[in-house]
Amino acid sequence: MADDVAAGQMSLFAMPMGSGAHAAGWRHPLAAPSRLTDIGHYRAIAEIAERGLFDALFLADAQGFRPVAGREAYAAVDAVRMDPVTVLGALSMVTDRLGLIATLSTSFNEPYSAARRLATLDHVSGGRAGWNVVTSTTENEAHNFGRDAHYGHAERYARAEEFVEVARAVWDSWDGDGVTADKASGRYFDPDKVHAVAHAGAHFRVAGPATMPRPPQGHPVIVQAGASEAGLAMAARMAEAVFTSHPSLESAVAFYGLLKGQVEAMGRPRDALKILTAVQPIVAETTAEAVAIADELEALIPTELALSLLGMQFGGFDFAGFDPDGPLPAIPPNNASKGSQTRIIEHAAREGMSLVQIARHVAGGRTSKTLAGTAEEVADELARWFRAGAADGFVIAAPILPDMLAQFVDGVVPILQARGLFRDRYRGRTLREHLGLAVPASRHDGHPERHVEPEIWQRKKP
Ligand SMILES: Cc1cc2nc3c(=O)[nH]c(=O)nc-3n(C[C@H](O)[C@H](O)[C@H](O)COP(=O)(O)O)c2cc1C
Repeated sequence: MADDVAAGQMSLFAMPMGSGAHAAGWRHPLAAPSRLTDIGHYRAIAEIAERGLFDALFLADAQGFRPVAGREAYAAVDAVRMDPVTVLGALSMVTDRLGLIATLSTSFNEPYSAARRLATLDHVSGGRAGWNVVTSTTENEAHNFGRDAHYGHAERYARAEEFVEVARAVWDSWDGDGVTADKASGRYFDPDKVHAVAHAGAHFRVAGPATMPRPPQGHPVIVQAGASEAGLAMAARMAEAVFTSHPSLESAVAFYGLLKGQVEAMGRPRDALKILTAVQPIVAETTAEAVAIADELEALIPTELALSLLGMQFGGFDFAGFDPDGPLPAIPPNNASKGSQTRIIEHAAREGMSLVQIARHVAGGRTSKTLAGTAEEVADELARWFRAGAADGFVIAAPILPDMLAQFVDGVVPILQARGLFRDRYRGRTLREHLGLAVPASRHDGHPERHVEPEIWQRKKP
């Protein structure tokens, strides 16, 4: 298998969030007046990422509004989110090698239809699909799916594990060589090579089989970004890539060691799971210029928006009555992402930040690390993190799109290539090949006893 990772090279993913990862990026004079429902916006980003030989483009998602305080804060640009699978399907036609990773929630989807959409994306793109498995954090999503409240944290993850398991069973329901398309016999597929799913679990009942052959990658690449104990346990068991973000090299190295250890404890090779940490690069001609852009961006975030975005990280907590120049107050337990709350609290304490300072920091970077400097400095920092064992690669969350992704691709990527830290051409075609991940064996390979005839075939004609 073509394998870029074995050569000691890092992976790079592009994460376009709205018109830029920074909450105020779209307001900056450098930002294109982009319309987030215009496929041309995503096409430009995808073409830049592929020009930069990125492993993949990843679309974040939520099927509802995030909990922020007040209607003004709701009017933020990242309220606009289109269905990622549809957007990536369109992008598959204008790209050739770039991996395409869609976020799909296990709390607010059904595994059969999610597996079907992802398998379709994998077929349409010729084996470039990935799935960012999220359990979702916002209550509004629950309200859009007939529930009064989100599932509790433990139930979310119990549902998520079963959901992924069912999706994999759906993908395995056709053997790789199931389709014979035999014109002579009139049989399109070999019925012995198509299996029932026959799943009846605590959360889902799925008969199967899939309505299409096994995806080209076997299974689309499974990505996970939950940072709680339950999230990490699930990642160690079933994820092939993990998105994370860290304010410091030390916390990234500690996280990397912990998670890779958990992967090994599950009996999987360390390399079976890649760890990608999110960074916001601000690349300019000089360090001073880059820092000035970072400051300009921060100043563009209204204080109320910053406080309410921080509140969102804590389950919609209202910071309005607190002294913005005082410390981060104690926050009652809530149902939002535990991993990011811990990181924010620790970061504020370590840096001695006031409430408004940590709020602006979180609102701007959404806890991804900002790297402001020259192309050389940004490349140095990525190389330092990669060599220190902090990450297998990086999720590039450009603060202003598409310009700052282009600056990264044109400025930083050639330096990483010159140092042998990043590929100089695509060697593989599929996302698995870019990442050096094996095609997963089907549960039916070598196990004829597992074959269950699809229920529907067994029915007698009336
Ligand atoms: C780089 C990155 C990208 C993420 N993208 C999403 C996303 O698109 N949608 C989402 O609901 N959560 C996203 N998350 C958040 C986690 O998936 C979230 O923490 C999880 O749903 C809650 O699990 P936890 O309590 O285990 O952290 C992302 C996190 C990171 C670090």
